[in-house]
Amino acid sequence: MADITISDLNKSYGPVHVLKDIDLDIKTGEFIVFVGPSGCGKSTLLRTISGLESISSGELKIDGKVVNDVAPSKRGIAMVFQSYALYPHMNVFNNMAYSLKLMKLPKAEIKQMVEAAAAKLQLTEYLDRLPKQLSGGQRQRVAIGRAIVRDPKVFLFDEPLSNLDAALRVQMRMEIAGLKNSLPNTTMIYVTHDQVEAMTMADRIVVLKDGVVQQVGTPMELYEKPNSLFVAGFIGSPKMNFIEGAQAKPFNAHTVGVRAEHLDIVSSDGDFRGTVMHTEVLGSDTYIYINIGEEEPLVVRRDGNAPLAYGEKVEIKTRPEYVHRFDEHGQPI
Ligand SMILES: Nc1ncnc2c1ncn2[C@@H]1O[C@H](COP(=O)(O)OP(=O)(O)OP(=O)(O)O)[C@@H](O)[C@H]1O
Ligand SMILES: [Mg+2]
Repeated sequence: MADITISDLNKSYGPVHVLKDIDLDIKTGEFIVFVGPSGCGKSTLLRTISGLESISSGELKIDGKVVNDVAPSKRGIAMVFQSYALYPHMNVFNNMAYSLKLMKLPKAEIKQMVEAAAAKLQLTEYLDRLPKQLSGGQRQRVAIGRAIVRDPKVFLFDEPLSNLDAALRVQMRMEIAGLKNSLPNTTMIYVTHDQVEAMTMADRIVVLKDGVVQQVGTPMELYEKPNSLFVAGFIGSPKMNFIEGAQAKPFNAHTVGVRAEHLDIVSSDGDFRGTVMHTEVLGSDTYIYINIGEEEPLVVRRDGNAPLAYGEKVEIKTRPEYVHRFDEHGQPI
């Protein structure tokens, strides 16, 4: 069991108030993703959970027990950082065994624990290799292996894949999803900037801004029912289109939000008119950027290979059931 309950948690560095009145209830086995702009407090929140940072006020409980003053090593937590440093002179086995040796566990037990972790991460055949003889993805897996050997109740990841190339990220994403399935009683909290990681891996996403939790929900709850303009613009890629001012008036809103896949190019009776500025053909879909006289171009998604010529005049229609309306405070109407 590893329920995490955070109540009214605040963290300040001197006069800098970084985390503000955080309340979160995380259940055993959940995969929680923290997202938010740079500097919003994601790493700090993760580090207070791990115990690497103290809490200024509020309460942090693991399995009902207050752990505010419990040492990091006693919390049953393991953490993987973006910049993981493997010991270059130790092979994979010894890198993974290091913390167990410090705990002075019997040799046979260490061997068994390292081999079990290596099997979970498909590292069995690399146990004798040095880090420099591994690919970036394999090294990242060793860093994860080092953390899981201790069989933590809670697993914290701070942007563990951000140093990897696109193909490796896809592979590691699947491997971490697999790891989650093989550790159903381990609670995982994962910080990322990557929209796809957040949408595909999370049971629930926590959106933070300026140290304040904005919304907590399943990826699709946040995608379909954002509780603010900020969350609407933050979740999803490409970003939700926002239209303000005169062009939003017909929708009785200060700001209209509509996603690229909920807009259609039509021959007449469109809600907006504009000129094609740019086309991105991705194979599976095509994004058309259209200047409609707003600050930002409107992005329209079309299926397959469906480019439009630069400068073409087009009309765009919204699908009414997918229109998000916001008032002048950025609150949904
Ligand atoms: N030791 C410190 N002293 C003072 N301020 C700090 C300290 N550590 C972090 N901060 C501030 O706290 C805020 C949150 O930092 P944090 O590292 O948690 O952000 P983050 O959301 O993880 O950002 P990023 O996405 O860039 O990693 C930042 O404004 C940062 O400058
Ligand atoms: Mg960070």
